[in-house]
Amino acid sequence: MTATAHDSAFLRACRREPVPHPPVWFMRQAGRALPEYRALRAGTEMLEACRTPDLVTEITLQPVRRLGVDAAIFFSDIVVPLKAVGVDLDIVPGVGPVVAKPFRTLADLPRALTPDDVPYISEAVGALVGALGATPLIGFAGAPFTLASYLVEGGPSKNHAATKTLMYGDPGLWAALLERLADITLTFLRVQIDAGASAIQLFDSWVGALPAADYRALVQPHSARVLAAVADVPRIHFGVGTGELLHDMGEAGADVVGVDWRVPLSEAVGRIGPGRAVQGNLDPTLVFAPREVIEAKVRKVVEAGRTAEGHVFNLGHGVLPETDPDALKLIVDTVHATA
Ligand code: CP3
Repeated sequence: MTATAHDSAFLRACRREPVPHPPVWFMRQAGRALPEYRALRAGTEMLEACRTPDLVTEITLQPVRRLGVDAAIFFSDIVVPLKAVGVDLDIVPGVGPVVAKPFRTLADLPRALTPDDVPYISEAVGALVGALGATPLIGFAGAPFTLASYLVEGGPSKNHAATKTLMYGDPGLWAALLERLADITLTFLRVQIDAGASAIQLFDSWVGALPAADYRALVQPHSARVLAAVADVPRIHFGVGTGELLHDMGEAGADVVGVDWRVPLSEAVGRIGPGRAVQGNLDPTLVFAPREVIEAKVRKVVEAGRTAEGHVFNLGHGVLPETDPDALKLIVDTVHATA
Protein backbone atom coordinates (compact mmCIF):
# COMPACT_ATOMS: atom_id res chain seq x y z
CA MET A 1 0.00 0.00 0.00
CA THR A 2 1.40 3.42 -0.89
CA ALA A 3 1.60 5.98 1.87
CA THR A 4 -0.61 9.04 1.38
CA ALA A 5 -0.75 12.46 2.99
CA HIS A 6 -4.21 11.54 4.28
CA ASP A 7 -2.72 8.72 6.39
CA SER A 8 0.25 10.79 7.60
CA ALA A 9 0.93 11.12 11.32
CA PHE A 10 0.35 14.87 11.01
CA LEU A 11 -3.17 14.65 9.58
CA ARG A 12 -4.03 11.75 11.86
CA ALA A 13 -3.05 13.81 14.93
CA CYS A 14 -5.10 16.77 13.63
CA ARG A 15 -8.09 14.41 13.37
CA ARG A 16 -7.35 13.06 16.88
CA GLU A 17 -6.65 9.55 15.57
CA PRO A 18 -3.90 7.26 16.95
CA VAL A 19 -0.39 8.00 15.61
CA PRO A 20 2.82 5.93 15.38
CA HIS A 21 4.74 8.91 16.87
CA PRO A 22 3.84 12.53 17.57
CA PRO A 23 4.16 14.45 14.29
CA VAL A 24 6.48 17.47 14.34
CA TRP A 25 6.96 20.56 12.19
CA PHE A 26 8.17 24.07 13.01
CA MET A 27 6.61 27.46 12.43
CA ARG A 28 9.16 29.36 10.27
CA GLN A 29 10.97 26.10 9.45
CA ALA A 30 11.74 27.56 6.01
CA GLY A 31 13.78 30.65 6.63
CA ARG A 32 16.94 32.31 7.78
CA ALA A 33 18.06 29.51 10.13
CA LEU A 34 18.87 27.41 7.05
CA PRO A 35 22.05 28.31 5.10
CA GLU A 36 20.50 26.89 1.91
CA TYR A 37 17.60 29.34 2.37
CA ARG A 38 19.94 32.30 2.79
CA ALA A 39 21.84 31.25 -0.34
CA LEU A 40 18.69 30.90 -2.43
CA ARG A 41 17.14 34.18 -1.21
CA ALA A 42 20.31 36.24 -1.77
CA GLY A 43 19.48 39.13 -4.14
CA THR A 44 15.68 38.55 -4.15
CA GLU A 45 13.33 40.60 -1.99
CA MET A 46 10.95 38.68 0.25
CA LEU A 47 7.72 39.65 -1.56
CA GLU A 48 9.33 39.02 -4.94
CA ALA A 49 10.37 35.54 -3.75
CA CYS A 50 6.76 34.88 -2.66
CA ARG A 51 5.57 35.60 -6.22
CA THR A 52 8.11 33.20 -7.80
CA PRO A 53 6.76 29.61 -7.77
CA ASP A 54 10.15 27.93 -8.40
CA LEU A 55 11.67 29.70 -5.40
CA VAL A 56 8.62 29.08 -3.20
CA THR A 57 8.67 25.40 -4.06
CA GLU A 58 12.37 24.92 -3.38
CA ILE A 59 12.33 26.96 -0.13
CA THR A 60 9.31 25.02 1.16
CA LEU A 61 11.05 21.70 0.45
CA GLN A 62 14.38 22.62 2.08
CA PRO A 63 13.39 21.96 5.72
CA VAL A 64 11.51 18.79 4.77
CA ARG A 65 14.69 17.37 3.25
CA ARG A 66 17.10 18.55 5.92
CA LEU A 67 15.04 18.02 9.07
CA GLY A 68 12.67 15.15 8.24
CA VAL A 69 9.66 17.05 9.59
CA ASP A 70 6.19 15.49 9.23
CA ALA A 71 4.63 18.42 7.35
CA ALA A 72 5.67 21.23 5.04
CA ILE A 73 4.39 24.78 5.48
CA PHE A 74 3.85 26.81 2.33
CA PHE A 75 6.49 29.52 1.96
CA SER A 76 4.75 32.87 1.73
CA ASP A 77 3.75 35.62 4.14
CA ILE A 78 0.55 36.84 5.80
CA VAL A 79 0.80 40.16 3.93
CA VAL A 80 1.04 38.58 0.45
CA PRO A 81 -2.76 38.76 -0.18
CA LEU A 82 -2.80 42.41 0.98
CA LYS A 83 -0.03 43.25 -1.48
CA ALA A 84 -2.00 41.35 -4.15
CA VAL A 85 -5.03 43.65 -3.72
CA GLY A 86 -2.87 46.73 -4.04
CA VAL A 87 -2.03 47.73 -0.47
CA ASP A 88 1.23 49.68 -0.64
CA LEU A 89 3.45 47.67 1.72
CA ASP A 90 6.86 46.07 1.95
CA ILE A 91 8.59 43.51 4.12
CA VAL A 92 11.60 45.25 5.59
CA PRO A 93 14.40 42.84 6.61
CA GLY A 94 14.80 42.66 10.38
CA VAL A 95 11.59 44.70 10.90
CA GLY A 96 8.64 42.98 9.22
CA PRO A 97 5.72 44.29 7.15
CA VAL A 98 5.59 48.09 6.78
CA VAL A 99 2.49 49.78 5.29
CA ALA A 100 3.01 53.11 3.46
CA LYS A 101 -0.36 54.64 4.43
CA PRO A 102 -1.89 53.28 7.65
CA PHE A 103 -5.64 52.50 7.58
CA ARG A 104 -7.80 55.33 9.00
CA THR A 105 -11.08 55.68 7.05
CA LEU A 106 -13.48 53.68 4.91
CA ALA A 107 -11.71 55.10 1.85
CA ASP A 108 -8.61 53.12 2.90
CA LEU A 109 -10.50 49.79 2.82
CA PRO A 110 -8.58 47.29 0.65
CA ARG A 111 -10.54 45.73 -2.21
CA ALA A 112 -11.60 42.06 -2.12
CA LEU A 113 -9.20 39.34 -3.32
CA THR A 114 -10.03 37.03 -6.22
CA PRO A 115 -8.15 33.83 -7.09
CA ASP A 116 -6.97 35.56 -10.31
CA ASP A 117 -4.97 38.01 -8.17
CA VAL A 118 -2.67 35.22 -6.94
CA PRO A 119 -2.01 32.77 -9.82
CA TYR A 120 1.51 32.20 -8.45
CA ILE A 121 0.03 30.73 -5.25
CA SER A 122 -1.97 27.98 -6.99
CA GLU A 123 0.99 27.28 -9.26
CA ALA A 124 3.43 26.86 -6.36
CA VAL A 125 1.02 24.80 -4.24
CA GLY A 126 0.28 22.50 -7.18
CA ALA A 127 3.98 21.91 -7.84
CA LEU A 128 4.65 21.34 -4.16
CA VAL A 129 1.90 18.81 -3.62
CA GLY A 130 3.37 16.76 -6.46
CA ALA A 131 6.91 17.01 -5.10
CA LEU A 132 5.91 16.29 -1.49
CA GLY A 133 4.13 13.00 -2.14
CA ALA A 134 2.94 11.63 1.20
CA THR A 135 4.18 14.65 3.20
CA PRO A 136 1.21 16.96 3.83
CA LEU A 137 1.36 20.65 2.91
CA ILE A 138 -0.01 23.21 5.38
CA GLY A 139 -1.45 26.33 3.80
CA PHE A 140 -1.78 29.47 5.93
CA ALA A 141 -3.04 33.02 6.24
CA GLY A 142 -3.08 35.84 8.76
CA ALA A 143 -6.26 36.21 10.81
CA PRO A 144 -8.31 39.42 10.49
CA PHE A 145 -7.08 40.96 13.79
CA THR A 146 -3.38 40.43 13.07
CA LEU A 147 -3.71 41.73 9.50
CA ALA A 148 -5.68 44.73 10.81
CA SER A 149 -2.91 45.43 13.27
CA TYR A 150 -0.33 45.76 10.47
CA LEU A 151 -2.69 47.93 8.39
CA VAL A 152 -3.66 50.25 11.24
CA GLU A 153 -0.26 50.51 12.98
CA GLY A 154 1.58 50.73 9.66
CA GLY A 155 4.07 48.13 10.89
CA PRO A 156 4.99 45.96 13.86
CA SER A 157 3.72 47.24 17.22
CA LYS A 158 4.32 46.47 20.89
CA ASN A 159 1.01 47.57 22.41
CA HIS A 160 -1.29 47.84 19.35
CA ALA A 161 -2.53 51.24 20.59
CA ALA A 162 -3.71 52.54 17.18
CA THR A 163 -5.48 49.25 16.48
CA LYS A 164 -7.29 49.34 19.80
CA THR A 165 -8.12 53.03 19.33
CA LEU A 166 -9.97 52.12 16.13
CA MET A 167 -11.52 48.96 17.60
CA TYR A 168 -12.96 50.71 20.69
CA GLY A 169 -13.48 54.16 19.13
CA ASP A 170 -15.18 53.32 15.83
CA PRO A 171 -16.78 49.85 16.03
CA GLY A 172 -18.53 50.32 12.66
CA LEU A 173 -15.33 51.03 10.78
CA TRP A 174 -13.59 48.24 12.72
CA ALA A 175 -16.26 45.74 11.68
CA ALA A 176 -16.05 46.87 8.04
CA LEU A 177 -12.28 46.39 8.08
CA LEU A 178 -12.39 42.96 9.73
CA GLU A 179 -15.15 41.80 7.40
CA ARG A 180 -13.11 42.72 4.34
CA LEU A 181 -9.97 41.11 5.84
CA ALA A 182 -11.94 37.94 6.60
CA ASP A 183 -13.03 37.82 2.94
CA ILE A 184 -9.45 38.28 1.74
CA THR A 185 -8.15 35.65 4.15
CA LEU A 186 -10.71 33.02 3.33
CA THR A 187 -10.13 33.47 -0.41
CA PHE A 188 -6.36 33.18 0.12
CA LEU A 189 -6.86 29.94 2.10
CA ARG A 190 -9.38 28.59 -0.41
CA VAL A 191 -6.87 29.06 -3.26
CA GLN A 192 -4.29 27.02 -1.33
CA ILE A 193 -6.77 24.25 -0.45
CA ASP A 194 -8.16 24.04 -3.99
CA ALA A 195 -4.58 23.65 -5.27
CA GLY A 196 -3.96 20.75 -2.87
CA ALA A 197 -2.97 21.99 0.62
CA SER A 198 -4.20 19.36 3.09
CA ALA A 199 -4.50 21.50 6.25
CA ILE A 200 -4.41 25.21 7.05
CA GLN A 201 -3.07 27.35 9.87
CA LEU A 202 -4.73 30.66 10.66
CA PHE A 203 -2.14 32.88 12.39
CA ASP A 204 -3.59 35.40 14.82
CA SER A 205 -0.13 36.15 16.11
CA TRP A 206 -0.90 39.39 17.98
CA VAL A 207 -4.45 38.78 19.26
CA GLY A 208 -3.07 37.92 22.72
CA ALA A 209 -3.10 41.72 23.24
CA LEU A 210 -6.88 41.52 23.89
CA PRO A 211 -8.91 40.50 26.94
CA ALA A 212 -11.18 37.51 26.29
CA ALA A 213 -14.50 39.42 26.38
CA ASP A 214 -13.35 41.90 23.73
CA TYR A 215 -11.88 39.07 21.66
CA ARG A 216 -15.25 37.34 21.70
CA ALA A 217 -17.23 40.48 20.80
CA LEU A 218 -14.96 42.17 18.27
CA VAL A 219 -12.69 39.56 16.69
CA GLN A 220 -13.91 35.98 17.09
CA PRO A 221 -16.96 36.28 14.75
CA HIS A 222 -14.67 37.30 11.88
CA SER A 223 -12.12 34.52 12.53
CA ALA A 224 -15.02 32.08 12.88
CA ARG A 225 -16.36 33.03 9.45
CA VAL A 226 -12.92 32.34 7.94
CA LEU A 227 -12.54 28.99 9.69
CA ALA A 228 -16.09 27.87 8.79
CA ALA A 229 -15.32 28.49 5.11
CA VAL A 230 -12.39 26.04 5.12
CA ALA A 231 -13.89 23.25 7.24
CA ASP A 232 -13.09 20.64 4.58
CA VAL A 233 -9.48 20.41 5.89
CA PRO A 234 -8.06 20.38 9.44
CA ARG A 235 -7.77 23.93 10.76
CA ILE A 236 -5.00 25.02 13.15
CA HIS A 237 -5.46 28.36 14.93
CA PHE A 238 -2.49 29.97 16.68
CA GLY A 239 -1.49 33.15 18.45
CA VAL A 240 1.23 34.31 20.85
CA GLY A 241 0.43 35.15 24.49
CA THR A 242 -3.05 33.70 24.08
CA GLY A 243 -3.20 31.73 27.34
CA GLU A 244 -6.41 33.54 28.31
CA LEU A 245 -7.94 33.05 24.84
CA LEU A 246 -7.27 29.36 24.21
CA HIS A 247 -10.84 28.26 24.80
CA ASP A 248 -12.35 31.03 22.66
CA MET A 249 -9.85 30.45 19.84
CA GLY A 250 -10.93 26.81 19.79
CA GLU A 251 -14.56 27.92 19.75
CA ALA A 252 -13.79 30.09 16.71
CA GLY A 253 -13.73 26.80 14.83
CA ALA A 254 -10.28 25.26 15.20
CA ASP A 255 -9.61 21.54 14.99
CA VAL A 256 -6.17 22.14 16.49
CA VAL A 257 -5.35 24.98 18.89
CA GLY A 258 -1.76 26.26 18.78
CA VAL A 259 -0.29 27.03 22.20
CA ASP A 260 2.76 29.21 22.87
CA TRP A 261 5.43 28.18 25.41
CA ARG A 262 3.92 30.03 28.38
CA VAL A 263 1.15 27.53 29.19
CA PRO A 264 2.02 23.83 29.72
CA LEU A 265 0.11 21.66 27.24
CA SER A 266 -1.57 19.69 30.02
CA GLU A 267 -2.98 22.97 31.39
CA ALA A 268 -3.88 24.18 27.88
CA VAL A 269 -5.89 20.99 27.28
CA GLY A 270 -8.12 21.82 30.27
CA ARG A 271 -8.64 25.39 29.09
CA ILE A 272 -9.44 24.38 25.50
CA GLY A 273 -11.81 21.56 26.43
CA PRO A 274 -12.66 18.32 24.62
CA GLY A 275 -12.98 17.70 20.90
CA ARG A 276 -9.84 19.51 19.77
CA ALA A 277 -6.17 18.65 19.27
CA VAL A 278 -3.30 20.88 20.44
CA GLN A 279 -0.12 22.07 18.77
CA GLY A 280 3.10 23.20 20.43
CA ASN A 281 4.91 24.27 22.49
CA LEU A 282 8.67 24.11 23.09
CA ASP A 283 10.15 27.53 23.85
CA PRO A 284 11.92 28.62 20.61
CA THR A 285 14.95 29.75 22.66
CA LEU A 286 15.50 26.23 24.01
CA VAL A 287 17.45 25.43 20.84
CA PHE A 288 20.34 27.35 22.44
CA ALA A 289 20.44 25.02 25.49
CA PRO A 290 22.79 22.02 25.86
CA ARG A 291 21.76 18.85 24.05
CA GLU A 292 20.59 17.03 27.21
CA VAL A 293 18.40 19.97 28.21
CA ILE A 294 16.78 20.06 24.76
CA GLU A 295 16.11 16.31 24.88
CA ALA A 296 14.63 16.46 28.39
CA LYS A 297 12.37 19.43 27.55
CA VAL A 298 11.20 17.80 24.32
CA ARG A 299 10.21 14.67 26.24
CA LYS A 300 8.34 16.83 28.77
CA VAL A 301 6.34 18.50 26.02
CA VAL A 302 5.55 15.12 24.44
CA GLU A 303 4.42 13.80 27.82
CA ALA A 304 2.18 16.81 28.42
CA GLY A 305 0.84 16.39 24.87
CA ARG A 306 -0.33 12.88 25.76
CA THR A 307 -3.06 14.46 27.89
CA ALA A 308 -4.60 15.82 24.67
CA GLU A 309 -6.83 13.93 22.23
CA GLY A 310 -4.29 14.77 19.54
CA HIS A 311 -0.88 16.49 19.67
CA VAL A 312 1.18 18.06 16.90
CA PHE A 313 4.65 18.91 18.21
CA ASN A 314 5.92 22.40 17.35
CA LEU A 315 7.72 25.32 18.93
CA GLY A 316 5.66 27.84 20.89
CA HIS A 317 6.41 30.41 18.13
CA GLY A 318 8.57 30.62 15.02
CA VAL A 319 12.15 29.36 14.61
CA LEU A 320 14.54 32.18 15.55
CA PRO A 321 16.95 33.14 12.73
CA GLU A 322 20.02 32.39 14.93
CA THR A 323 18.92 28.77 15.46
CA ASP A 324 21.40 25.99 14.60
CA PRO A 325 19.58 23.65 12.17
CA ASP A 326 21.23 20.71 13.96
CA ALA A 327 19.25 21.60 17.10
CA LEU A 328 16.03 21.43 15.05
CA LYS A 329 17.08 18.04 13.72
CA LEU A 330 17.78 16.88 17.28
CA ILE A 331 14.25 17.94 18.27
CA VAL A 332 12.67 16.06 15.35
CA ASP A 333 14.66 12.90 16.11
CA THR A 334 13.88 13.11 19.83
CA VAL A 335 10.14 13.54 19.19
CA HIS A 336 10.10 10.61 16.77
CA ALA A 337 12.00 8.41 19.25
CA THR A 338 9.28 8.91 21.91
CA ALA A 339 6.92 6.62 20.00
O1 CP3 B 1 8.36 28.50 7.34
C1 CP3 B 1 7.26 29.08 7.52
O2 CP3 B 1 6.71 29.15 8.63
C2 CP3 B 1 6.50 29.59 6.31
C3 CP3 B 1 6.72 30.93 5.98
C4 CP3 B 1 6.16 32.10 6.77
C5 CP3 B 1 6.73 33.38 6.67
N1 CP3 B 1 5.95 34.28 7.32
C6 CP3 B 1 7.97 33.66 5.93
C7 CP3 B 1 8.75 34.85 6.31
C8 CP3 B 1 5.02 32.22 7.57
C9 CP3 B 1 4.06 31.15 8.04
C10 CP3 B 1 4.89 33.60 7.90
C11 CP3 B 1 3.76 34.15 8.67
C12 CP3 B 1 3.90 35.48 9.29
N2 CP3 B 1 4.43 36.62 8.75
C13 CP3 B 1 3.37 35.79 10.56
C14 CP3 B 1 2.64 34.84 11.44
C15 CP3 B 1 3.60 33.92 12.13
C16 CP3 B 1 4.25 34.52 13.32
O3 CP3 B 1 5.49 34.60 13.32
O4 CP3 B 1 3.55 34.84 14.28
C17 CP3 B 1 3.65 37.14 10.81
C18 CP3 B 1 3.30 37.91 12.06
C19 CP3 B 1 4.31 37.67 9.66
C20 CP3 B 1 4.77 39.04 9.42
C21 CP3 B 1 6.24 39.03 9.18
N3 CP3 B 1 6.83 38.76 7.96
C22 CP3 B 1 7.30 39.16 10.13
C23 CP3 B 1 7.10 39.45 11.60
C24 CP3 B 1 8.51 38.97 9.45
C25 CP3 B 1 9.90 38.91 10.03
C26 CP3 B 1 10.65 40.19 9.87
C27 CP3 B 1 12.12 39.95 10.08
O5 CP3 B 1 12.89 40.16 9.13
O6 CP3 B 1 12.52 39.54 11.18
C28 CP3 B 1 8.19 38.73 8.10
C29 CP3 B 1 9.15 38.41 7.02
C30 CP3 B 1 9.30 36.97 6.77
N4 CP3 B 1 8.27 36.12 6.51
C31 CP3 B 1 10.52 36.24 6.72
C32 CP3 B 1 10.18 34.91 6.41
C33 CP3 B 1 11.11 33.74 6.21
C34 CP3 B 1 11.91 36.80 6.90
C35 CP3 B 1 12.25 37.58 5.68
C36 CP3 B 1 13.52 37.13 5.02
O7 CP3 B 1 13.93 35.96 5.11
O8 CP3 B 1 14.09 37.99 4.33
